[in-house]
Amino acid sequence: MNVLQVELDNNRSYPIYIGSGLLSQAELLTQHIRSKQVVIVSNETIAPLYLAQLETVLTDYQLASVILPDGEQYKTLQYLEKIFDELLAKKFSRNATLIALGGGVIGDMGGFAAACYQRGIAFIQIPTTLLAQVDSSVGGKTGVNHPLGKNMIGAFYQPQCVIADADVLDTLDDRQLSAGLAEVIKYGLIRDLAFLEWLEANMPSLIARDKVALAYAIERSCANKAEVVGEDEFESGVRATLNLGHTFGHAIETGSGYGHYLHGEAVAIGTCFAADLSRRLGWLNDIDVARIQAIFKAANLPITPPAEMATEQYVDLMAVDKKNVDGKIRVILLEAVGKASLPVNVDLVQLQATLNDYAG
Ligand code: NAD
Ligand code: GLY
Repeated sequence: MNVLQVELDNNRSYPIYIGSGLLSQAELLTQHIRSKQVVIVSNETIAPLYLAQLETVLTDYQLASVILPDGEQYKTLQYLEKIFDELLAKKFSRNATLIALGGGVIGDMGGFAAACYQRGIAFIQIPTTLLAQVDSSVGGKTGVNHPLGKNMIGAFYQPQCVIADADVLDTLDDRQLSAGLAEVIKYGLIRDLAFLEWLEANMPSLIARDKVALAYAIERSCANKAEVVGEDEFESGVRATLNLGHTFGHAIETGSGYGHYLHGEAVAIGTCFAADLSRRLGWLNDIDVARIQAIFKAANLPITPPAEMATEQYVDLMAVDKKNVDGKIRVILLEAVGKASLPVNVDLVQLQATLNDYAG
């Protein structure tokens, strides 16, 4: 097992445990629970696979569980309320602990429920997708979607710990594994050129689920994320670089209907948009753009946008983004391969040119 640390102020630092067989190590989990009441939030796909295993290490607790329907389209205030219903029905107190057992959807919803219930209860992330293990479970961004904007309702709220057990990836399908690789590639592109080169050399092993390669990719991704979050927890600066491809990606997710494109797929397409825009600004050259497209392709990810979305729809959706200031669209671009820019105001002429060429 490897242990990384997210370093935060006010005694809020926490460990990320990465390894195999972690779900059955009772002490690993229970050392972070300081209450008798524990609620596990999961969904109807993951619960049949892993809930019982988790419950067997929690026999000494007053346990409740909330099993939500599976899908990005249920990441809403309406379904968030189901968690509050259960906590209140079971009379859970303010010292209760919430465990989010699932992918990014469950992690974001569970974390937000924990942030809100009685103004904040402890929570633990047990991420079960590659995307959640390398990104969403770390750093305390929690929330739900709104029909007009992705992740628009939420809070920064940090967990007590993250337990990333690589064994649970055995049941994850190939499309989901690739979606997680989009966020792994992101770290290489924005700040870790050596990792990007390693990914280029090792993508076939990752796709083939080589355990050693996957463990290395998870660890290196979490190390990058922990460093960025430790430096800028509330995204007043460098943390925004983690959003490379996300402004375009979120527009694709919202515009094509939540759940149609996986988050990682939309990020892959969005990053290719961002690369094209960076080329138009003279920051990348044609070879860089082709290199970026090639690594996403090697990870079996899409790089072209949905045919049915029109240019105006992107601009409209991108106008609702958390990086925007005074309603002005701002995006993360690449100054070079391996170096992201801070949020830049979009040059509308260049944006329009990219959208026209790229989005048709
Ligand atoms: P997801 O949570 O929808 O999970 C993907 C699918 O895999 C679901 O059908 C799920 O039930 C299934 N699944 C999960 N674990 C499994 C397992 N071990 N075996 C078999 N099936 C399994 O999607 P995701 O890609 O994990 O997360 C995407 C979400 O994360 C989006 O809502 C996105 O906005 C959010 N996100 C948040 C952050 C953050 O910093 N908070 C960062 C990136 C993404
Ligand atoms: N996934 C982006 C962030 O955590 O900041």
